[in-house]
Amino acid sequence: MKAVKEALHVATSPTIVVCREEEQRKAIEFCKSCIEQEKAGGLYVCGCPGTGKTLSINKVIENLSSWSHEMGLQPIQVVAINCTSLTNTSEIFIRIAEKFNPYKRASGRSTPLQHLQSLFSRKSNLPIGTILLVIIDEMDYLITKDRAVLHDLFMLTTFPFARFILIGIANAIDLADRFLPKLESLNCKPTVLSFPAYSRDQILEILRQRLMVLEYSVFQPLALDYCARKVAAASGDMRKVLDTCRTAIDVLEAEIRDNSTKEVGNDIVTFDHMDIALSKAFKCAKVDIIQSLPQHQQIILCCIVKLFQHSKKNATTIAELNRSYLQICKSLHVPAIGSIEFIDMCRVLSDQGLLELGKSKEDRLKRLTLKIDISDILFAFKEIRFFQNCLGNKLP
Ligand SMILES: Nc1ncnc2c1ncn2[C@@H]1O[C@H](COP(=O)(O)OP(=O)(O)OP(=O)(O)O)[C@@H](O)[C@H]1O
Ligand SMILES: [Mg+2]
Repeated sequence: MKAVKEALHVATSPTIVVCREEEQRKAIEFCKSCIEQEKAGGLYVCGCPGTGKTLSINKVIENLSSWSHEMGLQPIQVVAINCTSLTNTSEIFIRIAEKFNPYKRASGRSTPLQHLQSLFSRKSNLPIGTILLVIIDEMDYLITKDRAVLHDLFMLTTFPFARFILIGIANAIDLADRFLPKLESLNCKPTVLSFPAYSRDQILEILRQRLMVLEYSVFQPLALDYCARKVAAASGDMRKVLDTCRTAIDVLEAEIRDNSTKEVGNDIVTFDHMDIALSKAFKCAKVDIIQSLPQHQQIILCCIVKLFQHSKKNATTIAELNRSYLQICKSLHVPAIGSIEFIDMCRVLSDQGLLELGKSKEDRLKRLTLKIDISDILFAFKEIRFFQNCLGNKLP
């Protein structure tokens, strides 16, 4: 069982990445053409969580490194930055500048960004073929935190003597609409590579590939198919598939422990085990999402609970919800966000699958319904005094 769990662990990187051949090919072609033409370029990789973006781009780097070696080119230098680890957004420029040795010798007068800008504006004495691959993962953080940094980054790729390929990876689906037009207006729109959610067949193929290292089968085909179908319908998130399969093994193991009379040799994950694992996975997921939302989005959910909880209503409008939100903020002495941001936040909640927004030309008149159970929201905020106040309940 340990080996099975290992094969299905999110941290176990498969030797080949199936179902993402086309995406990997496009990314490799893009980078190769930049390297061959000795020009900079920007690639924007986007797709929902767990669709294999980080994994595929890591394989792309491996592939490019061996290609450049075979071709006798300068080794490709890579800077990988995960934005969740940045304490300061401009750290990115320091990390890139460090890779270009001259920075170390430069006087401390200019900022790392200015240094890079001037470096890329004139013909440099770097060895021919030097190209840096900058991978910026979890770029969503930057987009919400400091868009200017991103604009500056992608702008760098347009400098005449820029020597780097920028690969930005992000997962919010609507991000591209909000972020790309600005880059287009600055004339530095990156090439976009999107990763669609995995389908049921793709999930099954990936599972087959990952379980191939084992010499025995631990899952009933029906159980795997059930998991693939459920997750494909919900999100197409491979991380979720792997987690659920591992939980199903836990369920089986607990059953074997509790039921020592059970025949030996019957240790296979069945449809029923998977059913339990799936209901656990989906129940927690909603609560997890709610608990990790920014505070104002959580307040909005509380307002919806207040509006619906003691009435037969199951729909409202953005305008009505906004009125209720302003009242709650006032009573809690929390500065309220403006109405445009409020509408944006409703959209984000709808993208997350928590709400549904109807169609209306005017945003404020859009009909709004809840897509999750009120009980999930109540459960998520059970122990939090602020939200209990928000809901008008008193904690002991
Ligand atoms: N095609 C695949 N073959 C094998 N495993 C995969 C495949 N796609 C995804 N996985 C596995 O699913 C998990 C999630 O993949 P990955 O981290 O690449 O997703 P992501 O798109 O970067 O997600 P996020 O947006 O949350 O960062 C990893 O454990 C990865 O090994
Ligand atoms: Mg990732």
